Amino acid sequence: MTYSPADQPRSGIGPGNGHLAGPPDGLVNVRARFSSLRDDFVFLDAPGGTQTPDEVGAAVARVYREASGNTGAPYAASRRIEALVGDAREASARFLGCTAEEIIFGPNMTSLNYTLSRTLGRDLQPGDEIVVTRLDHDANVAPWLDLAQDRGLVVRLADVHADTTLDLSDLERLLGPRTRVVAFPWAANTVGTIVDASAVCDLAHQAGALAWVDAVQYAPHEPVDVRAIGADVLLCSAYKFCGPHLGIAFGRRELLESWRPYKARPAPMEPVGHRFETGTQAYELLGGLLAAFAYLDSLGGPAAVAAWERQLGDRLLAGLPPGATTYGLPTMAGRVPTFLVNFPGVPSAKLSPALADLGFGVWSDGNYYAPGLHDRIAWGEALRIGLAHYNTLEEMDRFNQALATVVAAHGPAPLYSGQPG
Ligand SMILES: Cc1ncc(COP(=O)(O)O)c(C=O)c1O
Repeated sequence: MTYSPADQPRSGIGPGNGHLAGPPDGLVNVRARFSSLRDDFVFLDAPGGTQTPDEVGAAVARVYREASGNTGAPYAASRRIEALVGDAREASARFLGCTAEEIIFGPNMTSLNYTLSRTLGRDLQPGDEIVVTRLDHDANVAPWLDLAQDRGLVVRLADVHADTTLDLSDLERLLGPRTRVVAFPWAANTVGTIVDASAVCDLAHQAGALAWVDAVQYAPHEPVDVRAIGADVLLCSAYKFCGPHLGIAFGRRELLESWRPYKARPAPMEPVGHRFETGTQAYELLGGLLAAFAYLDSLGGPAAVAAWERQLGDRLLAGLPPGATTYGLPTMAGRVPTFLVNFPGVPSAKLSPALADLGFGVWSDGNYYAPGLHDRIAWGEALRIGLAHYNTLEEMDRFNQALATVVAAHGPAPLYSGQPG
């Protein structure tokens, strides 16, 4: 049995972006599928969380109507939930390039990472080593630091180059016979820099360690294939790619089979990924997740989205007001469309509220949960501009004009330029 398709999207009404050059067919009129994109507010905060198309919300509501209750009961509503969970595992497996059995659902990436790292930790010994990187979000560092404190492990921090690319030689230098895990982000939540995931997985494996990939900021922008890069564990979050607030993890089958789960009895131990899901899942969100995958498929696939996002990023970068300091890579090469920007003499904390007043959603913050990179690159507080496929070229232009206005309004007072005395 399969859970029947989610509510179909409505077609081409509302303020689509079809009048602009560039978007692939799947993206023309895409904005009409989001109630939240129907007014003029410009969301440039995708790394914090994307907007959600109405069909995802409708699918969540539909689960409440048609498949409430729980699995394991001998009647139709319960069977529908079981079918839904199976479909959600299959669709997630297609998204990540693994088998359905290797999928683990949880409330968010951070909780899943704590669960999985603690489970692995049952087999680690004092003196074992974990390597993390300066590019990581703390959700891929703190679980290891906590585990290290409890189990007497050592956590090492791999450095970045000045351009924020990962320093692979430094990482290699940190590997040794006691290294058990290399944890790294596939893309940085701060500056958008992409890591060569295959290279890091190879290095981890050469050292006999597990490759533990945080794909939260990569999965919304580029196709994921856990086998192609050689990941042992990979985690992502659906609310970063237009889905519900839900975490998804992949764990390599043999690895999951070798772990002793924390699990209430007599919960079923199959499929193997399910061993690491505690208690009752948020079934309604799995309905939303299925709709989110159907939505992404309807756009023409990850490659189409990535190409369009690069156009958006190029336009944004080309039009940034003069004097902008961008941290990280200077072009769209080697990055996802997440940018960290400062203007000398202008407090970033003033810019995001002023931009919000003008109808632009951007964040300003200190370390953005990436203390390792913040310590290394020292941007103080900076504005993060994060794009999603539903943004338009026209929004990039409007944003850059507004940014120029607020930077001028909050910048240092102009030098006196009146008549000489
Ligand atoms: C790179 C990265 N990893 C992990 C997380 C944590 O994700 P979650 O909110 O699902 O716990 C985030 C959140 O922004 C992130 O950007």
